[in-house]
Amino acid sequence: MLTVRAPATSANLGSGFDVFGVALDRPADVVRVEKADETTIEVTGIGSTYIPTDPEGNTVGAVAEALDAPAHIRIDKGVRPSSGLGSSAASAAAAALALNELYDRGLTKEELVPIAAEGEAVVSGEPHADNVAPSLLGGFTIAAGGDITTVDAAIPLVACLPEIAVSTRDARRVVPSTAEMTDLVDTVGRAATLTVGMCRSDPALVGEGMSDEIVTPARASLISGYGQVRTAAFDAGATGVTVSGAGPSIIAACYESDRRAVAGAMVDAFSDVGVDARAYQTEIGRGAELLG
Ligand code: HSE
Repeated sequence: MLTVRAPATSANLGSGFDVFGVALDRPADVVRVEKADETTIEVTGIGSTYIPTDPEGNTVGAVAEALDAPAHIRIDKGVRPSSGLGSSAASAAAAALALNELYDRGLTKEELVPIAAEGEAVVSGEPHADNVAPSLLGGFTIAAGGDITTVDAAIPLVACLPEIAVSTRDARRVVPSTAEMTDLVDTVGRAATLTVGMCRSDPALVGEGMSDEIVTPARASLISGYGQVRTAAFDAGATGVTVSGAGPSIIAACYESDRRAVAGAMVDAFSDVGVDARAYQTEIGRGAELLG
């Protein structure tokens, strides 16, 4: 039996839709695998009752199929499904690393990224690597043209998860199919600023780059209280605030000295609009790891 921990992630970061992602140092999924004649899946933990155990409808079933690695797979969910924190990606990344080891497939973590992305497609409708890449590799990742670039950055973050569910499929339907040139120019500038900020581990530059006028405004309408929470986070010292992945979580970058205040302000602002929420005071973390 093998056990792997794979972290939650935050994709997009405003200006990098389907491209940028960061691994969070918490929460995480833990996946245990044991060789079997056919794949069976058991799920426990946060939101487990909403996750199908049929291998054809589960992200890890697709990974087992792709690696030709049938197993009894136990997923302990630490990352709530439909949270915008890469829940299905964490399970897919953990299963990919665990099954690769269990069956001695010899693939590198980089080579496992497209396999885990296929697993992601089961729940989101299309394969995209901006969550599975950081969950496997850690750090800040750029998924572009089939290649993944990673930067080992240190940025304090707050991921605020409200008691609202937003499915990735629904959140992808509201993304506009065209954009104004002025918005594209702004987004490219912000994406470049954010990337330099990550290279320098500079929360001010990262925060400046964490916004866009194309995808985020369309998705903000799916999150009750988004505007109030964003304003409260900035007032408490956040350097940047945006929707995490497909939502409903909201991610804020900040200096470490402000992290606790930012977390409290975001939870309070959700509460003011009648939504319960919890905040993870976190930072950019490591990728998936074998626990034993
Ligand atoms: N880039 C993806 C999206 C992440 O925003 O739809 C969620 O899976």
